[in-house]
Amino acid sequence: MAGRLQDKVALITGGGSGIGEATAHRFAEEGAKVVVADLKVETAQKVADAIGGEAFGVEINVTDRTSINRVVEETVGRFGGLDTLVCNAGVTIVGGVMDLTEEQWDKELDTNLKSVFLCAKEAWNHLAARGGGSILSTASMAGQWAIPADAAYCASKAGLIMLTKCMALDGAKQNIRANCICPGFTNTPMIDGYFNDQPDPAAARKFAENLHPLGRLGEPVDHANAFVYLASDEANWVTGTELNVDGGITCGIWGG
Ligand SMILES: NC(=O)c1ccc[n+]([C@@H]2O[C@H](COP(=O)([O-])OP(=O)(O)OC[C@H]3O[C@@H](n4cnc5c(N)ncnc54)[C@H](O)[C@@H]3O)[C@@H](O)[C@H]2O)c1
Repeated sequence: MAGRLQDKVALITGGGSGIGEATAHRFAEEGAKVVVADLKVETAQKVADAIGGEAFGVEINVTDRTSINRVVEETVGRFGGLDTLVCNAGVTIVGGVMDLTEEQWDKELDTNLKSVFLCAKEAWNHLAARGGGSILSTASMAGQWAIPADAAYCASKAGLIMLTKCMALDGAKQNIRANCICPGFTNTPMIDGYFNDQPDPAAARKFAENLHPLGRLGEPVDHANAFVYLASDEANWVTGTELNVDGGITCGIWGG
């Protein structure tokens, strides 16, 4: 039986870990040809090897346009085109305005926001050449709700939600759809690092779990499943949306 993404070509940044890794696996299960791209090339290759078939892992630095261009061209060269770009790579640098250095601010905004502009720019004509395509991004509930001591991260994700809407308008006539997901706290190496930076990591994790009405942290596959839908033809009339995949954390004030 054909998969929901049968023969679509997908390039996934940050594909070596967490949400990106789960997305690479789910896309491949649904029949997509997957390029796993990550700053850490060994992890990208490991994920591609685990998927098998035509999947391949490649090094990318999403803050570097030359690197992005090389990966997009390699993708098109090997698979004959590009249908879906998943801009998922991201970092989190904890700190409020008075604590963050200018360099930290720039790194956060370059990795989480400018990168999507650059990746979309490099992919755009290839998506259009297929008669349309899909640009997906991993934003965050932190782009909708402020988190204390997380100024650059929250600002980057809020910017990404708006960039998604702008790309949706600009891409509509070429049938290029742009959508993002907004995860709640999710079990990945990134969130482990975030909890470990807190004075009491176990208490911070418990606190975060209790913030979600559905009573648990997210798992990477929760987001991968949302991306499968948004990348598929089932979402042909869905563009410019931010899909909350967050256990209900952004519904309102939750007393636990
Ligand atoms: N985990 C959460 O709770 C959570 C919540 C909301 C949003 N997010 C977002 O989800 C996305 C994925 O994060 P994750 O939780 O899976 O974390 P993760 O740390 O497991 O994965 C992030 C991946 O991005 C890669 N990366 C970092 N900088 C890069 C660069 N310059 N170029 C290429 N690759 C780079 C890393 O090597 C890593 O493999 C991020 O955009 C993150 O902001 C995560």
